This record gives sequence, C-alpha cells and structure tokens, in this order.
Amino acid sequence: MFTFDEKTADLIFGYCRERLALDPVPLDYGGYAKPLHDVLDGLISSEGNEPARVLDLFANRLATAVISSDSPRFLSFIPAAPTKASLLFDMVVSSSSLHGTSWLEAAGAVAAENQVLAVLSDLAGLPGTAGGCFVSGGSAANLSALMVARDTAGLQGHDTARPKFACTEEAHSSVGKALRVLGVDPFVVPSVDHRLTGEALETALSSARLGAADVVGVVATAGTTNGGIIDDLAGVGSVARRRRLWFHVDAAYGGGALFAPSVRPLFEGIAMADSLVVDPHKWLFGPYDCAALIYRRPALAKAVHTQDAAYLDVIHEALPHADHEVDAGAEDPNADVPWNPTDYAFHLTRRARGLPLWFSLAVHGTNAYREAVETVLANAKEVAALIARTPYLELVREPTLSIIVFRRQGWSRTHYEAWCASVLEDQVAFVTPTIWEGEAAARLALLHPDTTVEIVREIVDTMA
Ligand SMILES: Cc1ncc(COP(=O)(O)O)c(C=O)c1O
Repeated sequence: MFTFDEKTADLIFGYCRERLALDPVPLDYGGYAKPLHDVLDGLISSEGNEPARVLDLFANRLATAVISSDSPRFLSFIPAAPTKASLLFDMVVSSSSLHGTSWLEAAGAVAAENQVLAVLSDLAGLPGTAGGCFVSGGSAANLSALMVARDTAGLQGHDTARPKFACTEEAHSSVGKALRVLGVDPFVVPSVDHRLTGEALETALSSARLGAADVVGVVATAGTTNGGIIDDLAGVGSVARRRRLWFHVDAAYGGGALFAPSVRPLFEGIAMADSLVVDPHKWLFGPYDCAALIYRRPALAKAVHTQDAAYLDVIHEALPHADHEVDAGAEDPNADVPWNPTDYAFHLTRRARGLPLWFSLAVHGTNAYREAVETVLANAKEVAALIARTPYLELVREPTLSIIVFRRQGWSRTHYEAWCASVLEDQVAFVTPTIWEGEAAARLALLHPDTTVEIVREIVDTMA
C-alpha cells in the first residue's frame, strides 16, 4: 500500500488530466442521477479490487452523480470556479501531504499561506500586523472568530454573564449555528432594505430592549448569500468602535470583490473589522475547502485558541539552531518568526489549504484576479438588464454584486421546483429557488467568469 505503483499513478493522473482539460466541464446530475443503492454493493471487501475497476465505477456512476459546481452552468447556492493552477497545486498539496499546523513542522507552507493572508488583509485595509489562518470554510471561520469575540469581551469592559451578538436575519445561517455552539444569543437588529446599518444598530442598542446591554459584538455581512447585499460596514464599524464591540465581518462570499475597484467603495468600513472571513473557495477561484480568517489583533485569537497539551509545548517554544531570529512573543505573521496556524482557529491538525490559492496568485498575479472578478460583476449587470426587459420576468432588485433574484410572473414554489428539475435534466443549468420577502423566487449566483449572458438567456428562455 505504501509503494509507488506506476500503473495506478498513470490511471489517476490520466483521469485528472482529462478532467482538468474538459472545457466546459459537464454539469451532471447529483441526486437526480440513476439510483445509487446497489452501485457500491460488495465493493469494499477483504480482498480489494483492481484500481481500474474502482476508478471506472467512480467515473461512470459516482462522479456523474455529483453536479459540477465549477460548471459555468452551476448557478445555485454559491458556485465554485477554481483556476486550473489552483487545482493543479491542490494535487501537489495532496501528493506531498502538505500540512500547516505549526511553524516547527511546516514553516515553508505557513510562510506562503501568510503571504496570501497579507494580500487579503491589505485589500481590506487591515493593519500589517493582522493575521490568522485558513480554515475549511466560512462556517468554521465564523465559529472560530466569534469564539474569540466572546472570550475576550471582558477585556473591553463588558459584563460577560449573558453575552450577545448583534446581527440581522440576513446573516448567514452558519452565524446562528455558531452562536448556538457558543451558547450566545443573537440580538436581532431589524434590517433596512435588507442591510444592517449603523443607525439601526445604534437605535436598537440604545433602546430599552431586553438584552441590549449584553451585546458584546456585532456581525456584519459583506455580500449576503441570498441577495449579495453589503451591510453598512462604515456605520456599523463606527458604532462598534464607539461601544467597544467586536466587529466581525463575514465576507465569505463577497470578499472576492475586494479585488474589484468598481465595487470597492461599497466595502468602506471593512478596515475596522476585528475579524474578517473571506472564502477563496467561493469568489477567489480556489478549490474546496478554503476560508481565510483574519484577525486585527491575532494575539487575542492566540490566547483563545492555543491548545494546551504537554506534547504540544514544543511548537510554542523557540527553535534551537534555527536560522532566524527567534521572538516567541512576536505577533507579526509576516516576520520570519514562528507562527502556528493552529493557534488561530478551532482546529489542530490542518491541511495547508491556502497553498493552491498562493500558487495561483503567484502565477497569475493580482491583475488577473481583478479582471476575473470585474468580468463576473459586469456579466451580473447584463444579466439583470436581460431579466428586467424580459416581459414575463420581474427583477426583484438590481444586483449589488453577482447574485440576481427575480420572479416569473404567476409562478409558485411548485413551478420553480419543476422548472429547476427540468433544466437540470436537460443539462441547461443547475438553478434552485429561494424565498424573497416571503415569496418564492428564482436566484442566480454568478461566480464563474465563463457564465455569460448567452448562457443565462438560454436559461430564461426555458421560463417562457
Ligand atoms: C456569507 C456567507 N457566510 C458563510 C458561509 C458558509 O461558508 P461555508 O459553506 O464555506 O462553510 C457562506 C456560504 O455560502 C456565506 O455565503
């Protein structure tokens, strides 16, 4: 099992090569594929199988039962659009078992990941001393950041007996779940045209509402998942500063747009964030699973997340004979000093999941990212215009970023569901309905630069 086998390697590399070369990738069928109940029968046995047989079964029965989220026709939820460079380097990360738990074990990988975090942090306008780590996704990042917010609230002079976080109903579902895990209640602030604003936050906190005095932090969203809307970060950040509240910005989806000068002003105020989440596996064209989690003051996160165990003491100690200055108390992720990603989130062992993005950014340069994001934003505008002028459709609102919500006149949820199933069956697109202001609606999430207005025209034609 531990000996390199040329034949299996050729088989797998051949499959990967073919898959990577597909242009476009097939959409495929997910749960709509042929039933899978007997496909795997007896496969895992005491004697094993020929690799070719297992790969064949995977390629023909299992892979086709996975909808390709990197197809330009995948417009549901939040799609993916990994660059070829990032996918190829993901194979390097796997082939080398590249991990990134501590500086002691993985300084090379950690230095590269920190370089990417610094690019994102600079785009947001955070100080040069900001830092953090990559975690598996936005949900894990939100949980890890809010845990730091909860556990350090006392340092800001808050009474922490019943801490609460302010947010709106539009915050991502993972925020609510994180609060449940942390045993913290949400303090729900009414949104104003689907946004959390500084004024609404201030009004709610100044009111006699139960729980207002217990609020220790606020969660703003830069790119809501349902509508792609950016909260009033400047207003919310100012209130947070004045009231010494932790300001968490969930830019898991929208953060990629920090690369785009055309919408950068909408993020005004993001530089005030105490913690920031951007998912490269969404709009930064990286493979799954990758979320950047950045803290303004990483030392606070380290105090909360460092795992204490005798066998781990060595990763926190100075490295004898290492060829760099050792400063065990250093807090600058960009200095060549020990930096342990494990200390900045709810994890210990971790894959060096920031490296595919690092490789792709280093190869293509940031201009290519800017152009790719701008292309998506421009396509989203064109798509919105197409929908607005189609007589049987109603555009719910102009898109802020790249999510377009609209309705087909006279349709109920049942109509949308039937339509979604039929366009997938015909391999036109993968779209799923949503609810907007209490009523069923169609939703298109654009994220792949190859999702053109022509593709969307094909889709909306099927609604006629
Ligand atoms: C704004 C926002 N936050 C958090 C998440 C959760 O991210 P993940 O699915 O990577 O856990 C999402 C996912 O779509 C999101 O859009």
